[in-house]
Amino acid sequence: MIDGKKVLFSGMQATGNLTLGNYLGALKNWVGLADDYECFYCVVDEHSITVRQDPATLRKRSRALLILYIAAGIDPKKNCIYYQSHVSAHAELAWILNCYTYMGEMNRMTQFKDKSAKHADNINVGLFSYPVLMAADILLYQTDLVPVGNDQLQHLEICRDIAERFNNIYGDVFTIPEPYIGKVGARIMSLQNPEKKMSKSDENPNASVYLMDDRDTVIRKFRRAVTDSEGQILYRDEQPGIRNLIDIYCACTGKTKEAALREFDGRGYGDLKSAVGETVADLLTPLQARCAELTRDKEYIDGIIKDNAEKASYFAGKTLRKVQRKIGFPDRVR
Ligand code: TYM
Repeated sequence: MIDGKKVLFSGMQATGNLTLGNYLGALKNWVGLADDYECFYCVVDEHSITVRQDPATLRKRSRALLILYIAAGIDPKKNCIYYQSHVSAHAELAWILNCYTYMGEMNRMTQFKDKSAKHADNINVGLFSYPVLMAADILLYQTDLVPVGNDQLQHLEICRDIAERFNNIYGDVFTIPEPYIGKVGARIMSLQNPEKKMSKSDENPNASVYLMDDRDTVIRKFRRAVTDSEGQILYRDEQPGIRNLIDIYCACTGKTKEAALREFDGRGYGDLKSAVGETVADLLTPLQARCAELTRDKEYIDGIIKDNAEKASYFAGKTLRKVQRKIGFPDRVR
């Protein structure tokens, strides 16, 4: 709790081009939560280096992501928006938690298995212990709720296990966090293979809608979306492509599945694809304009970066010092 409010924490990697999945599964749901929660939204640049990065590109993308958070409607005066690398407590707590995490636990992580298959020439220790850094991110702020898409649930589960293990030894040090999953959009699928999640690392550019795609590209990608030969717009497992389009439509418009199905009843797949494409483009166009506008306001953005790093460091430092005391590190001499 901070000032009587529950704490909410989430983060995103600035690696690759962010997709509609990132937006609908996470970012869009973060907007407005600051009325009820104390919110921390981190650009997790330290996570990004588990895969080799070009330094200039990483720096540029990290800033663009921080700006995107604000452009999406997260008010930086009410929410703490900051870079992970500006708060050294993240890496410090991660080291400590590494010593309370088992190799077997990390070995089971599906994301590690996927990523090590993809980057066979660079299976580094950071990639392996990535979930421990993520646990440190969350636990540093005594987080109650973590809004994420479905693919992060396994990481959140391990975070809870580590926290409970630590608390069992040292008393109530960490709040045990709960996932906070949006009702729609928690798993947006690839437009080219609707059995697979939409991912920024997909090699087929038509599989993912990128947040910075222009209007025509968005509409074209939806027109090419893989569907099926059933010819009926229904929401069921046998029609994953159609189901995904309905999910995207509902996540963008706030309509229920039932309302969407009524709207498209008796219409063809072409109509559905065009309608979803237009809806997504209508959502992305103002977002892109706001990003461009904020990017020009260097002073404003720099001010946010500075103030919020200080705020995050204050809260993270409190937890880190508590942990250090509990495990027996010597007190500082003032
Ligand atoms: P990342 O950067 O891969 O994704 C950011 C957020 O987007 C969600 N997401 C999706 N949601 C629905 N459909 C999809 N196709 C889709 N693709 C991505 C993810 O679930 C996530 O919420 N490890 C995290 C970053 C992280 C973090 C944290 C998150 C680091 N520390 C602490 C929460 C709390 C990651 O790589 O997310």
